[in-house]
Amino acid sequence: MDWGMKNRMSRLLKPETGKGVWLAIDHGYFLGPISKLEEPGKAIRPLVGFTDALMLTRGVLRNCIGANLDIPIILRVSGGNSIVGPALSDEGIQTSMEEAIRLNASAVALSIYIGTEHEHKTLMALGELVNQGQRYGIPVLAVTAVGKELAKRDARYLGLCCRIASELGAQAVKTYYCEDFEKVAKACPVPLVIAGGPKLKTELDVLKLAYNAIKEGAKGVDMGRNIWQSDNAVGMIKAIRKIVHENASVKEAGKLLK
Ligand code: R5P
Repeated sequence: MDWGMKNRMSRLLKPETGKGVWLAIDHGYFLGPISKLEEPGKAIRPLVGFTDALMLTRGVLRNCIGANLDIPIILRVSGGNSIVGPALSDEGIQTSMEEAIRLNASAVALSIYIGTEHEHKTLMALGELVNQGQRYGIPVLAVTAVGKELAKRDARYLGLCCRIASELGAQAVKTYYCEDFEKVAKACPVPLVIAGGPKLKTELDVLKLAYNAIKEGAKGVDMGRNIWQSDNAVGMIKAIRKIVHENASVKEAGKLLK
């Protein structure tokens, strides 16, 4: 890895722990104004101090986030689909590498839809993005998207997706936690972070998810709804930090929810 690429990765995964707590607020690119993210700038204001990186689109970055923000940006560069459209998997690159550099992004992110009719298109987009990222020293985060098919999230499918993403050159992969997650992590030679998915029943369920993922090999979280849709968003992100960076137990971290 060249110096620029290494430097950007070390801003995303803290050198002290090798891990990261990233806050994802990119959902609007296909979901529109979902609950509690109607005003992204307001939603993240109390949370940025506890966040190692912010994942979002160029539209929200330019319009809702102050340019004095001092945390790394993971720029979502894929899109072109919507929740009411014919196929969520029909996604392509819609933000250029030049834009990512102009916006001082520390990484770019795109979704890949393996096993769908658009598998080839999204994997070729990953390859091309990695080629461009290598040219400029910008890491690529591949997101193993499942669209509406949440039941797909098992170790066999996610293991396949994560391995393919890393083989095609992604510097980091974002996936879901699942049973036998350690098998997924072991077979993925680049840092793996987990999404939270739709809001879980309780706050402790979220902490358990984060705890198990870290214990089984994840290098961090890139979570959204389970943090900013919580009535205790600050408590949630603080507790998740404690698990990710301090290897705290669910019980210890849970004390920060109070
Ligand atoms: C989803 O497509 C987005 O990329 C989100 O960044 C990702 O799903 C993480 O957010 P959440 O924890 O809400 O699932």
